[in-house]
Amino acid sequence: MEIIVLSRSQACQYAVDKIAQVLTQTNGKATLGLATGGTMTPLYAKLCQSNLDFSHATSFNLDEYVGLAPDNPQSYHYYMNDQLFFKKPFWKSYLPQGNTADAAVAAKAYHEKLVTTPRDLQLLGIGENGHIGFNEPGSSPTSITRVLPLTESTRRANSRYFDDEKAVPTHAISMGLSEILAAKQIILIAFGQKKAKAIYQMTQRPPHPDCPASFLQNHPNTVVLCDTAAASLLK
Ligand code: PGA
Repeated sequence: MEIIVLSRSQACQYAVDKIAQVLTQTNGKATLGLATGGTMTPLYAKLCQSNLDFSHATSFNLDEYVGLAPDNPQSYHYYMNDQLFFKKPFWKSYLPQGNTADAAVAAKAYHEKLVTTPRDLQLLGIGENGHIGFNEPGSSPTSITRVLPLTESTRRANSRYFDDEKAVPTHAISMGLSEILAAKQIILIAFGQKKAKAIYQMTQRPPHPDCPASFLQNHPNTVVLCDTAAASLLK
């Protein structure tokens, strides 16, 4: 795994350039794994300003909250429409269906779609506890898309987008670690001091379920882009 320390703007430009490269290599028909969260916001802004064309590309998002409809402003469907898809429509965009009577059925359907559609490039953020997607500590590297309870620390971290912590959904549907690791290329981005411990554990300790992102060490083509604060515990 390659670790590159850059400014936030340089990191976003690096990711934009990699996405452009994948689009060129696939004649525009790339399949991209996309992420949500504050880290991705400046990257999607850069993509919207670019001349890249996604009209033949496919996207799969990592996760969605259980119980939130796509038009709910706190849902990841809404985030993606707002930050990227309305300005840069894809040929097809998939997210797990959160507003469903049976989330386990929705998770299985998403897994089946992922199996038949390999990702050329997967974008990832990282949680302060080392999660990727909503694969919280304890997740197995062989895990697939499933319904997951959110840890208290993740609900607290994400409560900044909700009226209060109690409004944060208790469960999400998330791509599993095995599906994330199946992407041909992965770019993980981390900004800020709050991510420094997770970046240290992910890169400097042997892969372990305590830090789900550490399993990226076993992936043949992963780049970690950090700002100086997120990289501050690395030698
Ligand atoms: P953030 O979330 O980009 O909002 O920090 C990342 C994550 O929790 O995976």
